Amino acid sequence: MPFSDILDGLKDNPYFGAGFGLVGVGTALALARKGAQVGMIFFRRHYMITLEVPSRDKSYHWLLSWITKHAKHTQHLSVETSYQAHESGRVHTQFDFHPSPGNHIIWYGRKWIQVERTREKQMVDLHTGTPWESVTFTALGRDRQIFFNILQEARELALKQEDGRTVIRRPLSSVVLERRVGERIVDDVKEFIGNPRWYTDRGIPYRRGYLLYGPPGCGKSSFITALAGELGYSICLMSLSDRTLSDDRLNHLLSVAPQQSIILLEDVDAAFVNRELLPNENPLAFQGMGRLTFSGLLNSLDGVASSEARIVFMTTNYIERLDAALIRPGRVDLKQYIGHCSHWQLAQMFGRFYPGQAASDWDTFAERALSVHAEISAAQVQGHFLLHKSDPQGAIDNVKQIQE
Ligand SMILES: Nc1ncnc2c1ncn2[C@@H]1O[C@H](COP(=O)(O)OP(=O)(O)OP(=O)(O)O)[C@@H](O)[C@H]1O
Ligand SMILES: [Mg+2]
Repeated sequence: MPFSDILDGLKDNPYFGAGFGLVGVGTALALARKGAQVGMIFFRRHYMITLEVPSRDKSYHWLLSWITKHAKHTQHLSVETSYQAHESGRVHTQFDFHPSPGNHIIWYGRKWIQVERTREKQMVDLHTGTPWESVTFTALGRDRQIFFNILQEARELALKQEDGRTVIRRPLSSVVLERRVGERIVDDVKEFIGNPRWYTDRGIPYRRGYLLYGPPGCGKSSFITALAGELGYSICLMSLSDRTLSDDRLNHLLSVAPQQSIILLEDVDAAFVNRELLPNENPLAFQGMGRLTFSGLLNSLDGVASSEARIVFMTTNYIERLDAALIRPGRVDLKQYIGHCSHWQLAQMFGRFYPGQAASDWDTFAERALSVHAEISAAQVQGHFLLHKSDPQGAIDNVKQIQE
């Protein structure tokens, strides 16, 4: 059979024709799609700017409020209820509307801006219990200034809203530590925060660890909390005696800790004790309590590195129980003993609690208190003063009654 006949035969075959046509259209479509993709990528790369803000960033909540204000016409809102119970028993509830996850279009600075709020279903910020999120701003053009303007405006808006609220913060001076002890820590932290270059130039991870140790009730936790307030930092508190804390969870918590926060690990002795001690000396440590392992803790500590200053504070009542590996330089750079009250501390506390008293009374109180109890914690003194709220002389006369 001549070749042309075969071709003719094939032409009559409906499958051949259709198949041929499909392949052609398919290829063309694929090419067109590919072209469109490449074009879009090119377009995005050269004519669009985007800004992604993850929920752990400090500006995230400011931006949500900003979006709510500007996306006035959006019909898709989600609610955030804040609930605060005061010590007095008063309860304060507030509803804030925020744009819900999804796309929102905002007209700003003579430009259309697309705002996409995405929510990661699988991931929850364990610190706050809220889903992991981000917002992405997309605008036409190349001018990044627009994003700076938005961030700036969002910040101002947030600060304005904050104005009316009173944030009760414990002043650093209300925690009376032994002379120069508080200053030593504050100076060190400030020096650290102020010198990121020193660390990056030397390739040293930009983090610093502190260990405050000493008997209970002497002000370790209070001091760290007040210090955070003084620096304008928040506190990420993790208690290592929490039995549900696992390696993974600790690691995650440390990695999602907000910027500008102090990580506070309380009771670092509680989870593990010196590995050299025998199991029968330390029943708790070896009963598999907690799924946190010692090496897990060390890894998490070493892993916390970021361009932001990372400050880790640890506290313990029993420094001698800590493994040397945990408190070696690089993990703990400054150790400070916070002990029972000295004469000077007792006098200062008296003076602060009873303003207007003669300095000689301060000393009398301190002297008498120490003559009855060699070791007094600031917490005991505070409790004693509360029993004699407006009676300084009573506080002096009854020093014997300072609660053991
Ligand atoms: N140096 C201090 N100056 C003023 N108040 C203090 C001081 N130390 C403790 N207090 C008061 O005593 C209470 C307990 O203090 P805090 O929790 O800071 O002690 P701590 O050293 O962390 O104890 P623990 O080792 O048990 O955790 C707080 O209410 C705090 O106000
Ligand atoms: Mg404490």
